[in-house]
Amino acid sequence: MSRYIASVIALALTAILFTSLRWTDQDYSWEADESVAAVLEALGEKPNAKPDFSVDGVSAEAGKELVLYGITKGPNGRKVSKQSKHFVCTTCHNIQREDPDLSVVDPQARLEYVHEKGMPFLQGTALYGVVNRTKFYNGDYEKKYGDLVKPARNNIREAIQLCAVECSQGRELNEWEMESVLAYLWTIDLKMNDLLINEEDAKKVDAALNGKGNKKEAVKLVKSYYLQASPATFVRPPDNRRTGFEEITGNPENGKLIYESSCLHCHKNGEYAFFKLDESRFSLDYLEKHIPRYTRYSLYQVSRWGTSPMAGKETYMPNYTLEKMSNQQLEDLRAYIELSDN
Ligand code: HEC
Ligand code: HEC
Repeated sequence: MSRYIASVIALALTAILFTSLRWTDQDYSWEADESVAAVLEALGEKPNAKPDFSVDGVSAEAGKELVLYGITKGPNGRKVSKQSKHFVCTTCHNIQREDPDLSVVDPQARLEYVHEKGMPFLQGTALYGVVNRTKFYNGDYEKKYGDLVKPARNNIREAIQLCAVECSQGRELNEWEMESVLAYLWTIDLKMNDLLINEEDAKKVDAALNGKGNKKEAVKLVKSYYLQASPATFVRPPDNRRTGFEEITGNPENGKLIYESSCLHCHKNGEYAFFKLDESRFSLDYLEKHIPRYTRYSLYQVSRWGTSPMAGKETYMPNYTLEKMSNQQLEDLRAYIELSDN
């Protein structure tokens, strides 16, 4: 009998402990989907650029249509001209979160994450959370776009405009379109539950929010959970295209993921490019034949240097920086393409 009482007491204690743990877990001053920017503001941070809703016709819905389809209706109710003939923003950028841990650059973790979610693996950084970043076209993008990068480095509107004209090879956005795109981007800003914030740090941030801790420290803590800017390193193809990167052994299964999630996103049925690729042996043999060559059909060259817009065809292929495709992944792609029986 006393054993029975003891186990009832133990059970009750466990239940109390369990509910109290869950209770403390949820007892922060923010909701899971609370915007990170709002928490930072509450901690005294100056907000990043917000849209100007006083401009006639500005709306997040119009901005979303411009980003997804390149087209929307203007304040006068008439359709605007297509922003770009060939591309939309989502040709090169995801609009959902694409990294499992937002505080590190890890293209392999990203590939696995986007594959699981059925999203593409792209050359541009996700627009999800772009309004939380403070520097744009970082690292080696200066080499590609030269002085054009200067005004865009610290200014999100200039960064969007640069992309509309140079990356998208389209027309400039006018004022209400720009403010609308910015308004839409603010609907896909980072949320508190996107950060892998640990309990100890969450408690410190919570205390600061309630006037019981150091706000500056709390701001630093929150910011340590996501990158403030997306780094970019341009790298060369291997010196010898026949042998490739000799110290790396390619994994064809991983290469297949890259081919399907990245190359086919644009090339399947000529979705965003004139040059068509598919899963057939014909496509793969064509790419295989060109690997060692010094032409834009070599996957080494086209991945690392991209292509330039050709006269009459404004399409071009953006290069993959090291952050968007590692050398290991490039060899994985080669290994997949060279498999004779896939
Ligand atoms: C053909 C590909 C392509 C298209 C289309 C494109 N972009 Fe980009 N965009 C890029 C690349 C590549 C970068 C380089 C920096 C990065 O994203 O890491 C970039 C950078 C940006 C940046 C700065 C991001 C950062 O963190 O540095 C913004 C903002 C942006 N693009 C917005 C847009 C918008 C809005 C559109 C549609 C109007 C668009 N882009 C269309 C390829 C593209
Ligand atoms: C963001 C879209 C996009 C992605 C992703 C992409 N490409 Fe491209 N690619 C293009 C565009 C646009 C061109 C320019 C020529 C055209 O329109 O066909 C091009 C050109 C090429 C060319 C040269 C063809 C020619 O006629 O000039 C090859 C080869 C190529 N891509 C292979 C690949 C491979 C392999 C991958 C995956 C690693 C890949 N592409 C990923 C858009 C893309």
